[in-house]
Amino acid sequence: VTTYYSIEIVAATSEYYFTLDLKSVILVALINYFLTDMSLTQLNTYTSLLQHYAEIKPLRMQSWFENDPMRYDTFSFQLGELLLDYSKNRITEETIKLLCQLAKDAHLEKKINDLFVGHPVNTTEKRAALHTKLRDRKNFPLEVKTCFERIKLFTEKLHHQQWFDNSNENEITDIINVGIGGSHLGPMMTTEALSHLSHPKFRCHFISNIDETHLNAVLKIINPKKSLFIISSKSFSTIETITNAKKIKTWLKDFVPNLEKHFVAVTAVPEKAIAFGIPEDQIFKMWDWVGGRYSIWSSVGLSLALMIGMDNFFAFLDGAHAMDVHFRESPFEKNMPVILALLGIWYINFFNASNHLILPYAEALNTFPLYLQQLDMESNGKSISMEGTNTNYATGPLIFGVQGVNGQHSFYQLLHQGPHLVPADFILLGTQDEMLIASALSQTQALMRGKSKQEAFQEMINKNFTSDEAEFLSSHQTVPGNKPSNTLFLNRLTPYNLGALIALYEHKIYAQGAIWNINSFDQWGVELGKQILNDILKEIQQDETNSNQDASTYGLLMHYKKMRSLV
Ligand code: F6P
Repeated sequence: VTTYYSIEIVAATSEYYFTLDLKSVILVALINYFLTDMSLTQLNTYTSLLQHYAEIKPLRMQSWFENDPMRYDTFSFQLGELLLDYSKNRITEETIKLLCQLAKDAHLEKKINDLFVGHPVNTTEKRAALHTKLRDRKNFPLEVKTCFERIKLFTEKLHHQQWFDNSNENEITDIINVGIGGSHLGPMMTTEALSHLSHPKFRCHFISNIDETHLNAVLKIINPKKSLFIISSKSFSTIETITNAKKIKTWLKDFVPNLEKHFVAVTAVPEKAIAFGIPEDQIFKMWDWVGGRYSIWSSVGLSLALMIGMDNFFAFLDGAHAMDVHFRESPFEKNMPVILALLGIWYINFFNASNHLILPYAEALNTFPLYLQQLDMESNGKSISMEGTNTNYATGPLIFGVQGVNGQHSFYQLLHQGPHLVPADFILLGTQDEMLIASALSQTQALMRGKSKQEAFQEMINKNFTSDEAEFLSSHQTVPGNKPSNTLFLNRLTPYNLGALIALYEHKIYAQGAIWNINSFDQWGVELGKQILNDILKEIQQDETNSNQDASTYGLLMHYKKMRSLV
């Protein structure tokens, strides 16, 4: 079986198909051995977990709850104003013990330290990932301190209506963040989440898509003379952002005399922003050692700082820092990010789950699932180990989710009765009204308990159905249950707590990446599409279409050209 499996892998990853004799079989198995990362699955603890999984699989959470009144106390804990209840998982104390041992065997402790001390954990780009430095306010490096002082001055100028030198000029009322990926999702999600703290004088808008509908929708509702565009791009070369920035510049020229006063930039490459026409003193620096999806703590958070003010922004950093300290110092058994990471690994690597759901029960956290999609999938959607070999185990899950109540009336059906195992995080706020909290708790209970055929049958009989009808309907109304979920309960949605919540997921993702032995900080997968884009764009712009394109692409290009000529 191993040999067959090896052949499959090598054949799938090589460009050649060949017939194998015995010598080749041995050779292929050997090559595969050296090409595959088995460091995780060969750990003794991994084998113990496989045995443990076989024991746990048939058991029901409901009976654990019935037999152990302390289950909630055992599997929940609080950190500041954030409570994690993970008792509705298919785990026993032995599971947690074994999973924590797995983390130890995979050297998680050392890898956490590597992250914080600035080791080049992003090995393919030879960079550290030091987003945690941006929220350790007592120990800011000089360049970070200077940057935040500039952001503070800038926000104060805007708040006090001192942006334009000539006091007769209009003041800024609309802030428009132009960026994509990490330069968009973080600012958008956090300003929405904390909109109850927004400065009353400002409105904030976000443009990411190169579909002009997005840009036009914003341009239509703002006054150009009172608008400030933040061009946010770490590389300052992302095609979507630069295209939108250029269009804005052209649009703005007709309305304002002092074009450059309406732009600021956030970037790690100031020269490019200067070349675009943004004055140097209106450029806010970020650094190579901050990944795009981990950048909300840097000057990428400029729009957030403007909207909620600097004191609130610093509280946001402080909340994240508190989570950093907790992650770095707590034993794995009581370490929130590590526990969430291990539960994910439990379902992904042992139960073969490939999804993970994020379900905030708060309108303010509407875009939190979108934010986590990039954070998690761009970080851990990898199948190559740190050493460059193939991982022989599953890694990052598909992340999806919506505001919970809306989900209940769309896809929850599949969660309850579909064939897939979809572990979920329910995110609740103590400030929400009773109906919303009751909705969330009903769902986590229904997922855990389910409804047996017998219960469904009895319900039908009680409603005076005939036993034939009850028999038929009860099959359809049986809900298997035993579906796992975590509940994260935040007392309130404050900047501090939001900071802690985001950092919790950042570290969960890092801990998983560390155990899976993958690099959570690069994103080579997105580069190929960018390379092909230039080629395809040329094809669209020239009259001739190259028939060397694959037949599907060629056909679609021709179809588009025909459509365009008809418009
Ligand atoms: O293409 C992916 C990506 O590089 C993300 O990692 C990043 O957040 C986004 O594009 C935007 O990049 P930039 O901030 O350089 O414009």
